[in-house]
Amino acid sequence: MPVITNIEDLKRIYERRAPRMFYDYAESGSWTEKTFRENTSDFEDIYLRQRVAVDMTGRSTASQMIGEDVAMPVALAPVGLTGMQCADGEIKAARAAEKFGVPFTLSTMSICSIEDVAEHTTKPFWFQVYTLKDEDFMRRLFERARAAGCSAIVITVDLQVLGQRHKDLKNGLSAPPKLTPKSIANMMTKVQWGLGMLGTKRRFFGNIVGHAHGVKDASSLSSWTAEAFDQSLDWAQIAKFKEMWGGKMIIKGIIDVEDAKMAAKVGADAIIVSNHGGRQLDGALSSIRALPAIMDAVGDQVEVHLDSGIRSGQDVLKALALGAKGTYIGRAFVYGLGAMGEAGVTKALEVIHKELDISMALCGRRRIDELDRSILMIPENFEGRWQS
Ligand code: FNR
Repeated sequence: MPVITNIEDLKRIYERRAPRMFYDYAESGSWTEKTFRENTSDFEDIYLRQRVAVDMTGRSTASQMIGEDVAMPVALAPVGLTGMQCADGEIKAARAAEKFGVPFTLSTMSICSIEDVAEHTTKPFWFQVYTLKDEDFMRRLFERARAAGCSAIVITVDLQVLGQRHKDLKNGLSAPPKLTPKSIANMMTKVQWGLGMLGTKRRFFGNIVGHAHGVKDASSLSSWTAEAFDQSLDWAQIAKFKEMWGGKMIIKGIIDVEDAKMAAKVGADAIIVSNHGGRQLDGALSSIRALPAIMDAVGDQVEVHLDSGIRSGQDVLKALALGAKGTYIGRAFVYGLGAMGEAGVTKALEVIHKELDISMALCGRRRIDELDRSILMIPENFEGRWQS
């Protein structure tokens, strides 16, 4: 086993071990993938101010997200089909997060069900909600999340319609994978993955199959999304969900200042500045570029989190220094999971933690609440100057 020192190392192992269909599913953005690429490259445009001769002892990355203690403000983002990247993937990722002391967010489109994850963990996790047309299903979904002890719901508002990802269509992405000569030939080379899958019953959308009515084929993601997702979702509906849930609510998928204001108005406990990892509207701004204006507009009204493009603890540091109270990793933990199961997710968290801790120290700060824009050097045109 090679020595793993960064997230890229995990990605290389993941690429070898996971079936191509699922690797491509994770490693894609929509259309030209411009936003997907810029999510990561825009972090590089921000520099860090090195400070020296500052007492570095007694450092801590501990802080809080929506009032919950976290070992570092880095949660696992909701990722659909995680249980296809590695057998029982959601359970493994949730366990790694729990042991590390960071929040785990379970996707509506997970393979392991809410109940399954609750049964195999001891701390409350967060549940991500996609809005389906089936109202009865939605009501029961909230009840199920409540019964499982979830401490917050994350409403994803940027996916009423699915952004087109070319590779998924070409690969015929489905869960479980459709058996074609091409997919069989590829899966036969993924021995460890295959053995894991043969050893588990969890191969379908655990929150959907047997729970949602009138869905003909839930296995094909694109046709199923078009059929079942509620395109009429609006702010009034989101307000209704908040009431139905009655607990903490995070709104995920905000990239525009006006939407951030609406989310604050509707009473979200936090918003996630996110473009879905560049998987929805290609051509949208990267999250890190969108963050400063959103902080200025609503930072004093609502807790602001960020995801999309985070591949290192330095990326986390930059988002926190710009004012985010929390961050999420999607692909970074999927790489770890696909590479080495639960141990790989732990490794991803360790890598990010170490990078965050050391970079924070070299910027002359010892605690998360000491981070602010003064540790950054941001190009003058970073946010862009757009015609009105
Ligand atoms: C996602 N994301 C996502 N978001 C969500 O709300 N529900 C979901 O089911 C999924 N599914 C999903 C699958 C895969 C393979 C990826 C990569 C992403 C988006 C996710 O929560 C998060 O916003 C991004 O992953 C953040 O970008 P990075 O960290 O992957 O760059």
